[in-house]
Amino acid sequence: MAPQIPFEARLAGAARSVERVLERFLAEDARPGEIARPPRLVAAMRHAVLSGGKRLRPFLLVESARMLGHEEPGVLQAGAALELLHCYSLVHDDLPAMDDDDLRRGKPTVHRGFDEATAILAGDALQALAFELMADAATHQDGAVRSELVVGLARASGLGGMVGGQMLDLAAEGRYGASALGENDIRRLQAMKTGALLAFSVEAGAILAQANAAARIRLEDFGRALGAAFQIADDLLDREASTAAMGKSTGKDREKGKATLVDVLGLEEARRERDRLVSEACAALDGFGRAADVLRVAARFVAVRKS
Ligand code: IPE
Ligand code: IPE
Ligand code: MG
Ligand code: MG
Ligand code: MG
Repeated sequence: MAPQIPFEARLAGAARSVERVLERFLAEDARPGEIARPPRLVAAMRHAVLSGGKRLRPFLLVESARMLGHEEPGVLQAGAALELLHCYSLVHDDLPAMDDDDLRRGKPTVHRGFDEATAILAGDALQALAFELMADAATHQDGAVRSELVVGLARASGLGGMVGGQMLDLAAEGRYGASALGENDIRRLQAMKTGALLAFSVEAGAILAQANAAARIRLEDFGRALGAAFQIADDLLDREASTAAMGKSTGKDREKGKATLVDVLGLEEARRERDRLVSEACAALDGFGRAADVLRVAARFVAVRKS
């Protein structure tokens, strides 16, 4: 990483670039090919997306593609697709039927600011828009690359990925009968609900760059370890950080009986495991040399972030 650009500035720069793309696709007026945009729905979607957030997934995509020599403008569109998918997952995660949260990114959650039906529809439309952006010709000139991105996004976000993980997360609360998850069950749950989309973010960078199999395997290993470290950090922050710092309610995982590694391992051991995973993520990048420095710093940032 160019030493003169601090990591936070680089993350913020990528966020601004992706936000310009998001702003364009979430305009109030209908885009070519659409019939109309209901103002209430577009307002709810804008509230969900253009309201802060670290934009970590787009950042990981942009930086992994850059490391592999791919810096085309379509990268930002692919990053925007990931962010739309992520925002949809947050809108639905916060619903009363799921985690029942009132605050997200320092603002009322979409169902609180609007209403539940609007929040469900906003999530649905964000998901559809994510796939539209990923499949759109401006993302990459090669149709086979776009198709691989779409399939990868579907797998990471669906039944065997994020949505499946969300199902396991709710079941672990005991709502569908007694549930006692062991450490490995929790690791798998977390690899699905959070890890899959984060890992796909770096994988998508490699797909865009049409990287060789060896590079892709190294990045997949990096993404998996980073995703696992990320969710342990999120669970530690739920225990230790303030609602004000996080912009979302904290201290709720225990109350709801969420299955977390913090619960199973205890605070200190969970911190050690988070740090071990960061080292594992960095080690996966060994073959890339200094070109991977930004991703190494990103892995550390994920672990020690304060929000
Ligand atoms: C929060 O994700 C939800 C989880 C997957 C744990 P982030 O911490 O990336 O949230 P934002 O996008 O920065 O708000
Ligand atoms: C959410 O995990 C994961 C997804 C949104 C897919 P959490 O429920 O722990 O996320 P927060 O803590 O509400 O952001
Ligand atoms: Mg949840
Ligand atoms: Mg939640
Ligand atoms: Mg959480």
